[in-house]
Amino acid sequence: MKGGLAWRPFLAAPFDILDRAAPPVAQKSRLEDGKKIFVKSFGCQMNVYDSQRMSDVAAGEGYSPTAEIEEADLVVLNTCHIREKASEKIFSELGKTRELKERRAQAGRKTQIVVAGCVAQAEGAEIIRRQPAVDLVVGPQNYHRLPQLLRQAEAQPVVDTDFPVHSKFDHLPAAAPAATRARGVTAFVTVQEGCDKFCSFCVVPYTRGAEFSRPVAQILAEIDSLAAAGVREITLIGQNVNAYHGLAEDGGACDLAALLERVAARPGVARVRYTTSHPTDMSPSLIDAHRDNPALSPYLHLPAQSGSNRVLAAMNRRHTAEDYLAVVAALRAARPDIALSSDFIVGFPGESEAEFEETLALTEKIGFASSFSFKYSPRPGTPGAEMADQIDEATKARRLARLQDALEEQRQAFNRGMVGRVLSVLIEKIGRYPGQLVGRSPYMQSVLAEGAPELIGELADIEILSVGPHSLRGRIIDATG
Ligand code: SAH
Ligand code: SF4
Ligand code: F3S
Repeated sequence: MKGGLAWRPFLAAPFDILDRAAPPVAQKSRLEDGKKIFVKSFGCQMNVYDSQRMSDVAAGEGYSPTAEIEEADLVVLNTCHIREKASEKIFSELGKTRELKERRAQAGRKTQIVVAGCVAQAEGAEIIRRQPAVDLVVGPQNYHRLPQLLRQAEAQPVVDTDFPVHSKFDHLPAAAPAATRARGVTAFVTVQEGCDKFCSFCVVPYTRGAEFSRPVAQILAEIDSLAAAGVREITLIGQNVNAYHGLAEDGGACDLAALLERVAARPGVARVRYTTSHPTDMSPSLIDAHRDNPALSPYLHLPAQSGSNRVLAAMNRRHTAEDYLAVVAALRAARPDIALSSDFIVGFPGESEAEFEETLALTEKIGFASSFSFKYSPRPGTPGAEMADQIDEATKARRLARLQDALEEQRQAFNRGMVGRVLSVLIEKIGRYPGQLVGRSPYMQSVLAEGAPELIGELADIEILSVGPHSLRGRIIDATG
């Protein structure tokens, strides 16, 4: 995976934290330091959001977060099922959590191990069969029930992967202001979940369930409490976020463009984004929002997957390469400085060399600011896994390397084009060197500049002076807040 400046639809090397040599178990008594929860996210932005919400649920039960797994009375692994590698690795990693549990038990401390997320949903009881040290397997729609499930799991292992009738969002507690502040000045908010699209390569419709949009009032209440704790940038997230159609306060329907306008108008909110979008749901109103909503970043993650119409049809993407180009042209007409990022899959069953070249050609036509690209990974239960003409690993690897070279070239060209421009940067934190601040441009680039720490949480106009491999450098010319 390349494109280090972009946000990440998933994490590349998720299990590293468990690979570290185990430090000795702390000898402090539980009463002295309270109960601790360790949560590790292995997936997309929604997986990260779910991890935070699980932490918030656990906070209500007296757990405070720790970054040290050895200290944790409750270990939650929030898993991702999207590709085989991450999904399979969970079982070897769970062996390490068993050792952790035993070490802690020897020191007189109890540990509960929870497997949450999309592997939990897909594999259910199989996880406990393969690793009996696991106490609880809980799917993405059920984690609001963590307290009672953990109590049940005291007696015997529990699996909860039913799709509930009532939305978890009706039950989740708000984050404590201190927890929000610790997470920084940007926040994800799930507004839409699940997927009805059934792309033939993808597990998400099975692990997240049917499309669901949260009601407007509930979303705005969550955003108000985040903003009150200092959050300035909100990213509305959903597997198909641009299919959002939530219930408005007056009983009518609200689309994503209208929701973005409502969110941008909340006190404290300075900048809004949304992800991930499907090309066929880029409605005229949403394209217009890029012209009309000044708080909306001119940056869009719009997965294309392939540039070949035959492959796109086999993927059940419901759009052609021409449709994709037309959406991009409309977006650029509405907002000339908009930049795009995308996802691509190489080596989908039957993909010929010429069809792969069509993907390269599509990227050249657009010039992406950042992209993620993957070798096709056959997933159990999806139509793609049953297709004839699976492509061999060597071919996939060769195509991926070529595509990533092209995408990296485009990313660097895009970044070079920033020199001399003035970008509106949200200052997020202090940098590594004295006097240095780190922020994010509208295009998710990391930007370094000198300035006072009071600027954290403010929007600053920064003139870009130079471009490094992973960040831009500039000088603040105006800080407006
Ligand atoms: N619409 C979703 C997509 C989630 S998956 C969202 O909310 O982001 C993120 C990306 O993973 C997809 O766009 C696709 O490029 C890639 N992907 C999904 N299934 C895959 C598979 N079986 N093999 C390889 N890559 C896959
Ligand atoms: Fe998966 Fe396709 Fe749905 Fe995205 S739109 S989550 S790629 S099935
Ligand atoms: Fe992975 Fe589930 Fe997200 S499969 S990409 S954690 S929706």
